[in-house]
Amino acid sequence: MSGSTTVDVAIVGLGFGEDFLPVYQAHPAVGRVAIVDTDERRLADVGDRYGVPDRFTDVHALLATDAWDAVHVLAPVSFHAALSLAVLESGRHCACAVPMATSLDDVHALVETQARTGLVYTMMETAVRGREYAAVERLHRDGALGTLTGYHGFHVQNLDGYPEYWRGYPPMQYATHALAPALALEQTYVEQVVCLGSGRLTPDRLGASGNPFPTQVGLFTLAGSDLLAQVTLSFFQTARPYTEGFDVYGDAGSVEWPRVDGDPLRHYAMQALDPTLPDRGLRGRRSTLTPLEPVDETAGLPVEVTPYLSAFDVPDGAGGTLRRGAEHGGSHPRLVHEFVTACVTGTQPPLDAVTSARFTAPGICAHESSLRHGAPVAVPPFTPSSTTSQEAALSGATKGSHR
Ligand SMILES: NC(=O)c1ccc[n+]([C@@H]2O[C@H](COP(=O)([O-])OP(=O)(O)OC[C@H]3O[C@@H](n4cnc5c(N)ncnc54)[C@H](O)[C@@H]3O)[C@@H](O)[C@H]2O)c1
Repeated sequence: MSGSTTVDVAIVGLGFGEDFLPVYQAHPAVGRVAIVDTDERRLADVGDRYGVPDRFTDVHALLATDAWDAVHVLAPVSFHAALSLAVLESGRHCACAVPMATSLDDVHALVETQARTGLVYTMMETAVRGREYAAVERLHRDGALGTLTGYHGFHVQNLDGYPEYWRGYPPMQYATHALAPALALEQTYVEQVVCLGSGRLTPDRLGASGNPFPTQVGLFTLAGSDLLAQVTLSFFQTARPYTEGFDVYGDAGSVEWPRVDGDPLRHYAMQALDPTLPDRGLRGRRSTLTPLEPVDETAGLPVEVTPYLSAFDVPDGAGGTLRRGAEHGGSHPRLVHEFVTACVTGTQPPLDAVTSARFTAPGICAHESSLRHGAPVAVPPFTPSSTTSQEAALSGATKGSHR
């Protein structure tokens, strides 16, 4: 059992979940770490390599114990909502990989359950915690972009050969990576979406969901902002290496995501009309281009997790190590730190349940719109609850309530 300044964490699903294991193990406010996977071989392999004695093949067996303060769900998407609800109902804090859920009913259920229990819930949206997003946000906060007038978020990934459950997956139900930066930059939420599908899935790629589209393109209108967020998602039949990012345009400056991995972002700054230019005179403002190399800020992060901002070594199981890239812009240690801090202090993390719902629900509505040939679909508003985890913590209901 952990003391009041540490949290015992269980990681569920050891594919992507393995990336987070060493970060939790290193975090100074984490006590014990347990691992859960239905695949016994994977459980044994990861457990042996990272020296984890606490192993479970069934998350419900873990939830039935009186141990473990917090659970990070990284099982396949179809398990996200049900497992997250089970975690919260067991009195434990919950983090979940994206997306929060794939139905509006489940998104509402999660927001309501978090509000009722006062426990911590966060969807770990890597797209707004990476170094690239941080660099763009800094420019925007400093006024260097001016008023935003254009946004294109994109996530193109080929899922052929991925586990069977991805077959036919509606791309927009994974829109959060491509959309969330617009919402975070404008600090708002989506009111309405219009979305169309592009292309047709080949018969061998159709899945149980009935989605016919390999690609979907959505136009999202935002509350209190004139910015229109255009988002493109493609999971099949697009010949393009994986890319996940955004271009953002403003009346003072713009930033474009690198088209080639490893290249810097491109920052454009709008210039004044210049009557002295010999070729064009006053016709059209120019923009200067400056490469923008994002840096990793370490302020606010425990020194123990900063190695995970960039490439790090993991045990290879044969006494040696393997070099592993810090995926998703070095966002993992930041997300772990926000979650662990929230659990320990009894406050909600910045990416709380309402924010997670605002990132997730628009994609669900976008898919609905695409099935209705682009009919506008209103996105339900999610508003912060009057019951905060701070209040629950003050009444002693938050930490360790499962015991
Ligand atoms: N940038 C990101 O935020 C990002 C990146 C990659 C993956 N993800 C998300 O993370 C999740 C996991 O992705 P992945 O690529 O590792 O998936 P995966 O299917 O490759 O691996 C999932 C693991 O969970 C295990 N598992 C399946 N059902 C389980 C259950 N009920 N309880 C415990 N373990 C179970 C499987 O045995 C497997 O080891 C997905 O939902 C994916 O959407 C997010």
